[in-house]
Amino acid sequence: MKEINKQIGVIERYTHILPVTDKTPIITLSEGSTPLIKADNIKKMLGVNFNIYLKYEGLNPTGSFKDRGMTVAVSKAAESGVKAVICASTGNTSASASAYAVRAGLKSIVIIPEGAIALGKLSQALIHGAKVVAVEGNFDRCLEIVREICENYDVELVNSINPNRIEGQKTAAYEITEALGDTPDYQFMPVGNAGNITAYWKGYKELNETKALNLPVMMGFQAAGSAPIVEKKFIKEPKTIATAIKIGNPASWEQAETARDESDGVIDRVTDEEILEAWQDLAETEGVFVEPASAASLAGLKKYLDNGDFNPAYSKNVVCILTGHGLKDPDRAVETVSRPPVVSDSVDKVVKCTGIK
Ligand code: F0G
Repeated sequence: MKEINKQIGVIERYTHILPVTDKTPIITLSEGSTPLIKADNIKKMLGVNFNIYLKYEGLNPTGSFKDRGMTVAVSKAAESGVKAVICASTGNTSASASAYAVRAGLKSIVIIPEGAIALGKLSQALIHGAKVVAVEGNFDRCLEIVREICENYDVELVNSINPNRIEGQKTAAYEITEALGDTPDYQFMPVGNAGNITAYWKGYKELNETKALNLPVMMGFQAAGSAPIVEKKFIKEPKTIATAIKIGNPASWEQAETARDESDGVIDRVTDEEILEAWQDLAETEGVFVEPASAASLAGLKKYLDNGDFNPAYSKNVVCILTGHGLKDPDRAVETVSRPPVVSDSVDKVVKCTGIK
């Protein structure tokens, strides 16, 4: 049967820049091709002249940017003949790994920090049939355990230290560049384990080398209670409401510093209050619901505008990366915003509460 309007995934869209061959089975959920949304309401709210765009990665099939890297990592794992994939995760990697593993007919094993995963993400790994093990320790410890397991057993590690993850994730830099017709001038993004900033930087450097496009300035933001790169030391007990980036010893620490230094950018921190404020701004002014960690990008932009440290010209393009969907962590929204009133079954009472009259 003829396939109509099939949306291709990142491997088919970017075959020429990815480590795949004719022998690689393409394990895809038609990820990527996410919208770059012009944020004119936020631009107005901030009173700035430059253009602000939101790369809404929450619209990937499992609700986060991880799918871009996972399609490549799981396809290569399937090609190599392993029977299982494994990851440590603050939630999104596990959701993505378990979904792609199902499509590849592989087992998935997920090691998570006990009590520190948003409910939406845990439910994804469970419904996809992953073997989920919660460890009484933080993400950094989970990753150490997974690395040790991989040294001794025939399972494929699909955390972002797997270079195939970085290759897949770099495609977001290509998409942004295609949408804008040029590389952005500045890119604001959250930083956790630091794989994503590493991947974007790789993508932009390739575009610079092959197409002579300018390199953007990379502006990465960690949560203030989990900011090892900013504080230049491991954080033994990272803290933040943004559980996705609650990481005290990022695996791609050095690569993140390279992206920062080569781009003349920064890696800085934003407080939980700043994250939640930006998170509400996105929902209330642009209609874009993200999980809290994603809002670290806009929180960072607001911080730099407030400091007076950031003053681009009117024609510049600033992109904020929104890494995960708001439905990943619905509890946070219900806790933050007041709950709806409950009234008896009466039109008059309902009308009274709606404010229509
Ligand atoms: N935003 C979200 C929604 C994430 O899930 C993560 C990382 C990040 C940002 C940070 O990206 O680690 O590449 O710097 N989540 C990982 C996970 C750690 O296990 O799902 P990073």
